[in-house]
Amino acid sequence: MSARILDGAALAKSIRAGCAERAATLTAAGTQPGLAVVLVGDSPASAVYVRHKINDCAETGIRSLLERLPATTTEAELLAKVRELNADPTVHGILVQLPLPAQIREQTVIEAIDPTKDVDGFHRMNAGALMVGQPQFRPCTPYGVMKMLDHAGAMIRGAEAVVVGRSNIVGKPQAMLLLQADATVTVCHSRTTDLAAHTRRADILVAAVGRAKMITGDMIKPGAIVIDVGMNRDENGKLCGDVDFASASEVAGWISPVPGGVGPMTRAMLLVNTLEAAERAAGRS
Ligand code: GUN
Repeated sequence: MSARILDGAALAKSIRAGCAERAATLTAAGTQPGLAVVLVGDSPASAVYVRHKINDCAETGIRSLLERLPATTTEAELLAKVRELNADPTVHGILVQLPLPAQIREQTVIEAIDPTKDVDGFHRMNAGALMVGQPQFRPCTPYGVMKMLDHAGAMIRGAEAVVVGRSNIVGKPQAMLLLQADATVTVCHSRTTDLAAHTRRADILVAAVGRAKMITGDMIKPGAIVIDVGMNRDENGKLCGDVDFASASEVAGWISPVPGGVGPMTRAMLLVNTLEAAERAAGRS
């Protein structure tokens, strides 16, 4: 083991402390920041994620509103709920937990959220703003990854950055944020031929594919910063990332663990985005 560990849990804790101060200032000035979280259906994993988000709000002094809807909810019913939250001035951020049940089109729901309250940054207006280099809300996971890179002292400018995964939630916005920070960015995906040829060139490697331990030590450039966005179960049912930690940590310079890496950072950046939304609504940013 030679790599240094990028401790997302510790970094997230310090970000939450900063958020608590911002929330207190805003509340004292008459606007308590508010986040509405909408959970549709009974997925145990989604229920855990949502509970964490609600607890984070409580710790930080952000008012939270949990809207639980049954798995049989129609798209029209969910859209009506989103519109109600759009119109509520005490709600500054709206998060609809994904995935949604099959009868509901996710993008339709995302586009119904007021872009000024879209703390996920998934609305096409926010995706477009990021694309042209004027982000309003940075999607939480890639935003958290950028904070981790800063924390590791990464020289992003001019670096070779390789993102494995091209989702709207992580891969694409991650590429945009790295590009904005002057990295040379390659996006790899399931149809990439010779993935290892790309990853071995990476000074910064972000793995966001959703396949357990698929990035192995032999695919990593010695000394690289490796950030693991994956959240999978291994053959024994144990939580693991997209990176094979045992072999990768022999080669990388820095590596983020799973759990305790990107996950807590994603949650912390949701608080940051909620504060940004509330500060803008209060005319304070
Ligand atoms: N499900 C998994 N990750 C996310 C996320 O970042 N935002 C939302 N809304 N749902 C998710």
